[in-house]
Amino acid sequence: MLDGLFLHPKVIVELGMGDGRLLESLAMRDANSFYIGIEVNKEQCEQARARITLPNVAIMSDSFEDIVLTFPDGSVDRFMAVLPDPAFIDEKSESRWKPFYKTVYNKLKRGGTFQLIAEITDELLQPVDDKVYSKWAVWLESSLISIGFILKSRQEGAPMHYSSRCLDQFRGDPKRVRMTTLELGK
Ligand SMILES: C[S@@+](CC[C@H](N)C(=O)[O-])C[C@H]1O[C@@H](n2cnc3c(N)ncnc32)[C@H](O)[C@@H]1O
Repeated sequence: MLDGLFLHPKVIVELGMGDGRLLESLAMRDANSFYIGIEVNKEQCEQARARITLPNVAIMSDSFEDIVLTFPDGSVDRFMAVLPDPAFIDEKSESRWKPFYKTVYNKLKRGGTFQLIAEITDELLQPVDDKVYSKWAVWLESSLISIGFILKSRQEGAPMHYSSRCLDQFRGDPKRVRMTTLELGK
């Protein structure tokens, strides 16, 4: 499955790719890079495999916690995580997910990047005010910096040209679902 890997100068890994539509659109415009999409949901993987026939894409159907561990250290140019499940981003689960992102850090090449897009919502689904949003965004950024990442940029929202099932859904309610995009480096 990974036959094409070493024919490409860059390796990009998407964690929890969902239906893979973002992976596909990025890979289509970047034939020089090899894209690996990891998704634990087998049905979504099968559908993505049936749809995506690009030679620079591989889809791996298992937990990214297990798969990322098998990559050699310093072998990946870029990781991406778009709206990870709460277990991999929530403040309450921080002690559980931090070791995983440390592994992600270790697998990055020196100069590699990790793009993380995360969202905050109010427990009662009220609009999220600026103060709450800023406090959360600073906490998230600090947590990742404490692992070793360097913050390259932080912006509210997600890149305009990105489309995924969850991004498209969340963009419909921007006051209640506020997103941040962190661009982290090693
Ligand atoms: C909130 S969805 C986001 C999906 C996609 N990135 C998007 O923006 O539409 C989180 C995805 O991560 C997947 N996921 C959760 N835990 C995972 C794990 N340990 N390994 C791989 N995928 C996982 C879920 O099955 C789900 O598809």
